[in-house]
Amino acid sequence: KTIYVLNGPNLNLLGKRQPEIYGHETLQDVAALCEAVAGDGFEIRLLQSNHEGQIIDWIHEARETSCGIVINPGAFTHTSIAILDALNAYDPPVIEVHISQVHKREAFRHHSYVSLRADGVIAGLGLEGYAAAVRRICQLARQAG
Ligand code: DQA
Repeated sequence: KTIYVLNGPNLNLLGKRQPEIYGHETLQDVAALCEAVAGDGFEIRLLQSNHEGQIIDWIHEARETSCGIVINPGAFTHTSIAILDALNAYDPPVIEVHISQVHKREAFRHHSYVSLRADGVIAGLGLEGYAAAVRRICQLARQAG
């Protein structure tokens, strides 16, 4: 069973980008963490794109092959009805992750289109948010059988 871990714009710069907000760890560290916490029989497919359409294509691809999506949509969180629509066409569990505590930041980060679909939302736990999200997807997938 495959878990998609999708990352939106600017997250390729994780570790270098505003480290006072996002920390010094990289997307490679996120991949290692997700793989470490994924249960037996679960595979992690971690992807990042700066392009909205690419993220939508990956959500469509995930429809065929996956048991859940962990998504940090970056700034598309606050703008993308198209990503929301793609997730609404996806049946297994979806967990939304933000590294930073978005509700403590600018008002434009307080609204999320993706939260209208997400089964869980995590913000402000740093990379630990991804680990918790992967654990939860594994748990829900086992329950679903
Ligand atoms: C983010 C929060 C967003 O507001 C921001 O645009 C990001 C990263 C986070 O992980 O905290 O790119 O999703």
